[in-house]
Amino acid sequence: DPDLARDVASSLRAIPDFPEPGVVFKDFTPLLLDTALRDRVVADVVRRRAGAVDVVIGVEARGFILGSIIAHELGVGFVPVRKEGKLPADTHSVSYTLEYGSATIELHTDAVWPGQRVLVVDDVLATGGTAAATVELVGRCGGQTVAVEVVLELGFLNGRDQLAGTEVHALLTD
Ligand code: PRP
Ligand code: MG
Repeated sequence: DPDLARDVASSLRAIPDFPEPGVVFKDFTPLLLDTALRDRVVADVVRRRAGAVDVVIGVEARGFILGSIIAHELGVGFVPVRKEGKLPADTHSVSYTLEYGSATIELHTDAVWPGQRVLVVDDVLATGGTAAATVELVGRCGGQTVAVEVVLELGFLNGRDQLAGTEVHALLTD
């Protein structure tokens, strides 16, 4: 699908000064409404990962959306990684640094089994903190992260540097 990156780029809506002054927020909700484009995005990931994944992780909150569809199309289970305090059963927990302060995300200890091949899905790779913490959570369960798939990578933030040893694929890089 040679035009996919271009078409995804034109579907992303740039919102200046959200959530704070100086930040340009890239909103992918228009892509979710465009069923033909959404199908192409999902098909692109599925073509790359078919047969190579045992379970898909979606990262709260926006990673849940495409992650669920991709898991469905791959015919594998879906596992949520959630922000602290949201998952009810026993969890692994990893904290990471944000620009100001820190964040903690969690994974049910029994959601990923030793040796399982895990695909991590999120909308955006920015500083890489969220994705790196998710890979760490997978490792705590004994799983193997096959790749991190995102729609948009903000290349100038060098998020990949936090993910050495993990394949990262972005449909589009800004
Ligand atoms: C955004 C985005 C990614 C993460 C990327 O989520 O959806 O999950 O930030 O940033 P990073 O690479 O610097 O870690 P956010 O934490 O804003 O929460 P949301 O998905 O619940 O809106
Ligand atoms: Mg997010």
